[in-house]
Amino acid sequence: MRFKNILALFSVFSIIFSGFVIAGEGETGNEPDSVGIAPQPAIEEIYTHIDYGFQQLRPVFKRCCFDCHSNETEFPWYYKLPIAKQIINHDVEEGRDELLFEGGFPFKSDREPHKDLAEIKEVIEEGEMPPWKYTIIHRSAKLTDKEKSRIIDWVDSSLAILENAGYMDAGEVEHQH
Ligand code: HEC
Repeated sequence: MRFKNILALFSVFSIIFSGFVIAGEGETGNEPDSVGIAPQPAIEEIYTHIDYGFQQLRPVFKRCCFDCHSNETEFPWYYKLPIAKQIINHDVEEGRDELLFEGGFPFKSDREPHKDLAEIKEVIEEGEMPPWKYTIIHRSAKLTDKEKSRIIDWVDSSLAILENAGYMDAGEVEHQH
């Protein structure tokens, strides 16, 4: 709850602040009069804000996702065994190809940033990630219910900010529900 409140407060501040910046720029430029049009926060500021939320969750992602979605993989002792090595390499390569978390948000991937968010929510809700065959051995990589809801809250508020700022069209938003 507290995390959500901080997030909400932070987004209000950053949106108001970016509104000032944009309004300020308008006064000196040759833009047509934009009175009555809500100022749109710059996408970079929104991304910074979303990354702030991600950084709060980073320890969870590190514990549960980084072995396959970062270049900070901690290989287990049995990685030395030939067949294990092949299986692990395959997972890690595919996972890294999909999404890299260590650089923060926006993540490195072939998708648009908001689609990464929606995918993350989906795999968490469906219990697809981390993969079950990985958590059999890495038991501590299992997400607790509280961690799942923290991640989902972060995705939801991030998508809401992007949507309110007009960076997602209505069609896309609908698909995410
Ligand atoms: C054991 C390795 C491994 C771990 C740990 C892991 N992933 Fe993955 N992940 C993969 C692989 C491999 C794929 C690509 C194949 C697939 O979709 O199953 C993938 C795909 C994904 C995708 C894209 C899904 C899609 O349908 O396109 C997302 C999002 C994702 N992972 C998020 C996460 C998150 C969040 C965590 C941590 C909670 C995590 N993963 C942990 C291996 C892993």
